[in-house]
Amino acid sequence: MTQVFTKVTAIRGMNDALPGASARWEQLEALVREWLRAYGYRNMRAPILEHTRLFTRGIGEVTDIVEKEMYTFTDSLNGESLTMRPEFTAGMVRAAIEHNLLYDRPQRVYAMGPVFRHERPQRGRYRQFHQIDVEALGLAGPDIDAELIVMVSRLWKLLGITDIELEINSLGQGDERAAHRAALITHLEQHKDILDEDGLRRMYTNPLRVLDTKNPAMQAMADSAPKLFDFLGETSRAHFDGVCARLTDAGVPYRLNPRMVRGLDYYNLTVFEWVTDKLGAQATVCGGGRYDGLIELLGGKAAPAVGFAIGIERLLDLWGQYQPEVALPECEVYVVHQGDEAQRRAALLAESLRDAGMSVIVHAGAASFKSQFKRADASAASIAVILGGDELAAGVASVKMLRAVAQTSDAAQFSVPLDDLVAFLKDKVN
Ligand code: HAM
Repeated sequence: MTQVFTKVTAIRGMNDALPGASARWEQLEALVREWLRAYGYRNMRAPILEHTRLFTRGIGEVTDIVEKEMYTFTDSLNGESLTMRPEFTAGMVRAAIEHNLLYDRPQRVYAMGPVFRHERPQRGRYRQFHQIDVEALGLAGPDIDAELIVMVSRLWKLLGITDIELEINSLGQGDERAAHRAALITHLEQHKDILDEDGLRRMYTNPLRVLDTKNPAMQAMADSAPKLFDFLGETSRAHFDGVCARLTDAGVPYRLNPRMVRGLDYYNLTVFEWVTDKLGAQATVCGGGRYDGLIELLGGKAAPAVGFAIGIERLLDLWGQYQPEVALPECEVYVVHQGDEAQRRAALLAESLRDAGMSVIVHAGAASFKSQFKRADASAASIAVILGGDELAAGVASVKMLRAVAQTSDAAQFSVPLDDLVAFLKDKVN
């Protein structure tokens, strides 16, 4: 009896990056690391799995992320509740506290990698997605908020991205939010009849989030709601003005969006988002802000902080609209051979070419020259090295230019003594 195996596919909302697309990621990541280096940010890595309570406490119980989007499970060995990080910030802060990173100076840190949210997948919205996360820990002033925003605008320039706009807002401080919250609840109570289920549920627990509704029937109510910005005191206003002045200095245009609330509860003062109309419904490429209370909330010595995260999938989608993908060759040199003896020599030869810094594929297995050349061509290598019986007998390799490379525009073929091959190819490859 033959057994039928069903195909195992990827989990919905979790994508593979195949070699071509992945090369593009690597290109972006290399550029991003240089960009971060230019501002003195250093990489750090925290685990993907954390205790669930880190996120419920850090991000906030009454947020979409914590209420319905986390991949949470019980560790069957010890009964602990664990969660796959839905964002970086809480884990970065946990690690900074745990290792006393802020004991003698502020820290500029970044991380890149996968995060997980159980959302309904669509273009630009996935269940495993990737972020570039940047955090400035231990710095309080508007200068650093502005520096972070200007830094992001530099990344857009580096990538040639133009259609992207900055929206900013201030969420003030706790007492200002409390006064606004009271006024907001009164407003919501006055419009109770038009609130939907989410609205009613959140009216007292997280009234600010009620305004973030997509429900058209609630828009007018949301528009006429008291604005947090009007409740800001002098110090908060001065901080916000300080950020705006520096953005103007740097020539970075911004738009005040008094309705911006962000999806995480840890923010205070400055919050910002970069949005574009080139990505359909998922318009936000980068979001962040100040979170001066989080370090203390998670058990550390009180210290201010500010940061942001960029969604890599959205950024790649956007970047592709400005700079189309160029397929990269699989290698520089493709070695074809005939016969067992030649194959063994080819393998050693390839090692010495790699010693000299070249990228080399040796055809695997035995095949006709014709089909080996087909593969060499498909690899997009610029040079093929041929090692057959005749070549071995004469102590040479044939070198064939597959593509126009530096100084060689004609598709030429050379016979090169094996001892000279490394020097000869090095000259041709670079
Ligand atoms: P966030 O706004 O939740 O902020 O996410 C940041 C970015 O991640 C978004 O602007 C978007 O580009 C991308 N993103 C979010 N959800 C998805 C998804 N389901 N699929 C694809 N991309 C997505 C944070 O995560 C904060 N931790 C940012 C931060 C750092 N604030 C301070 N420091």
